Amino acid sequence: MEQSSLKTIGVVGSGQMGRGIAQVAAQGGLSVLLHDQDAAALQAAAAFIESSLKRQVEKGALPEAARAAAIARIRPIAESGPLADADFVIEAVSESLAVKARVFAALDGACRPEVILASNTSSLPITKIASATRRPDRVVGMHFMNPVPVMELVEIVAGQATSAATLETTRGLAKSLGKTPVVAQDYPGFISNRILMPMINEAIYALYEGAGRRDDIDTVMRLGMRHPMGPLALADFIGLDTCLAILEILHDGFGDPKYRPCPLLRRMVDAGHLGKKSGRGFYDYGSRDSSR
Ligand code: 3HC
Repeated sequence: MEQSSLKTIGVVGSGQMGRGIAQVAAQGGLSVLLHDQDAAALQAAAAFIESSLKRQVEKGALPEAARAAAIARIRPIAESGPLADADFVIEAVSESLAVKARVFAALDGACRPEVILASNTSSLPITKIASATRRPDRVVGMHFMNPVPVMELVEIVAGQATSAATLETTRGLAKSLGKTPVVAQDYPGFISNRILMPMINEAIYALYEGAGRRDDIDTVMRLGMRHPMGPLALADFIGLDTCLAILEILHDGFGDPKYRPCPLLRRMVDAGHLGKKSGRGFYDYGSRDSSR
């Protein structure tokens, strides 16, 4: 399908990324079918989007009518049946190849044959995900950055079989959502995490080996390189378990020791110190679970 004929977007998975994608799509004027089997997660996502849009209205960044219209365009669905009406689907379920393969096989059966199925995976191979479907030419990576409403980039990942027409439609969709698309090939970590994760891992090694203290490592990158967050704070923000999983994929995929995860990162994940979401990582966030 051409990008201009996309009216209804299916978003599968209503976690941190899925809800952000749903919000941005609704603000971009698209009807959104936000699907999650977990009704409580769906409710939490709807509440999060409402409060996020309300904050924008309070700041004067969004007219009240636009907020109400965006909310009205999002239909939370606990059943997958209505996804038959979607013109394009973006999957944002958990980062497990087995789970994604199952979801894509189901979407392949539920969605019209011409519909593109995109995965928001941060590092799993699009080519493998596509092989769970009978439409590998219409499967693509659409990697949004966190927080989705704020970050301008969408990394579009071309699998082995992804067609040029699929890439074009997906680029057009990203642009229509106000994002800047780049195309990456389907190799471990794509472009973004191939560069970001070794930097984060090196910062953790610097801490582990005593090259600097936590705050000094982060200050170097914030003030010296103008990164909005230091790498240790960013690792906490992303989730240390996620960072470790992506580093393992780089390490296994390239077989190069330069990607070996720092033992300190592994130890923190073993301890359940996963960063902001668990209340504790390199920094302390109190015991409260936080999605921001
Ligand atoms: N949802 C919506 N809006 C949000 C938000 C969220 N979760 N978090 C922050 N914002 C908005 C705020 O409302 C504010 O908007 P305004 O400028 O219109 O008032 C703006 O973002 C700035 O927020 P704050 O003032 O609260 O805080 P900061 O200025 O410290 O910015 C940040 C927060 C945007 C998160 C900034 O620190 C940042 O850009 N950090 C780097 C984030 C980053 O690198 N993300 C990529 C992670 S890697 C990834 O996602 C890939 C994966 O595969 C690992």
